[in-house]
Amino acid sequence: MRALTIQPSAANSAEIRDVPDAEAGAGEMLVEGLALGICGTDREIVAGDYGWAPPGRDRLVLGHESLGRVRTAPADSSFAPGDLVVGVVRRPDPEPCGACAHNEFDMCRNGKYTERGIKEIDGYGSQLWTVETDYAVKLDPRLESVGVLMEPTTVVAKAWEQVEKVGSRSWFEPKTVLITGAGPIGLLAALLGVQRGLDVHVLDLATEGPKSEAVRALGAQYHSAGIGSVAARAKPDVIIEATGVSNVVFEAMASTASYGIVCLTGVSPVGHKIAVDVGSANRDMVLENDVVVGSVNANLSHYAAAADALAKADADWLSRLITRRVPFERFAEALEARSDDIKVVLDLTA
Ligand code: BGC
Repeated sequence: MRALTIQPSAANSAEIRDVPDAEAGAGEMLVEGLALGICGTDREIVAGDYGWAPPGRDRLVLGHESLGRVRTAPADSSFAPGDLVVGVVRRPDPEPCGACAHNEFDMCRNGKYTERGIKEIDGYGSQLWTVETDYAVKLDPRLESVGVLMEPTTVVAKAWEQVEKVGSRSWFEPKTVLITGAGPIGLLAALLGVQRGLDVHVLDLATEGPKSEAVRALGAQYHSAGIGSVAARAKPDVIIEATGVSNVVFEAMASTASYGIVCLTGVSPVGHKIAVDVGSANRDMVLENDVVVGSVNANLSHYAAAADALAKADADWLSRLITRRVPFERFAEALEARSDDIKVVLDLTA
């Protein structure tokens, strides 16, 4: 079968190669790959800046944003041939740490977790893949054209859960959320904000195009001015930061209303230094009881929450987020980031 492989730490090593056909072991399903979402992490891996091959191997099958159709499933499982499924990204560390032992592998404490297509286990970028039934989630068949958005939705489902858990330490009735960045994470965070009945504001550099149209179609407000002026007007109770851009991250921390919560979801490049007034940020955070919380990955409860959120969403709105579908063999085009892209998807069947 054909698989999109890379050599971690080597820049631009992505190649589709023939690899042995996937074969399901005990407790696993064999799945026909339908689509693979491409995100910033995949581009970082392809650039040689992130990613780990499986032990004893040079190359890793790329891809963690999956969508497939079950070919074979264990008879005693809740899956059947034909089901639309998504595979979970992370697996608990083998020891396991306390969090992994409690199925909270998204909160792994010792860093020995593994991730499909990212860290030491092959990903979902192949015509066939296998997945343990315990780490697969069935999707509503109506979501076939947009179900590949599931994994980024799990990431925002966890981010919202973190915001709500932090908020619940005292009286908390948030009204307004500001989301920085209108990529897939920002837009899906906006969707979940609208589903919660909040007044949603989204900020991005693009002044026009599919991002602003998607925000407006959601009934949220789109901004392309600086975060300081937008926050001064909107007075957000919550900021979900989805750019990872240093000065936006820092301004987000300084821009909430009292009892503000900033949830950081964007992984920044390292080494970019900016001058900041830490004293002023510290003073505001203390005097306002503010919290900044980082959030990564998602556990099975977030996959369930994400499946619900997608099932409730308007499928036409979701399909706006997929701005390019690229045939598998033309993967190089999918790996290029273009300015009007929201989500680029590889069609594993083409
Ligand atoms: C993925 C997460 C993963 C993280 C760090 C993100 O792109 O969505 O599932 O935990 O990268 O590897």
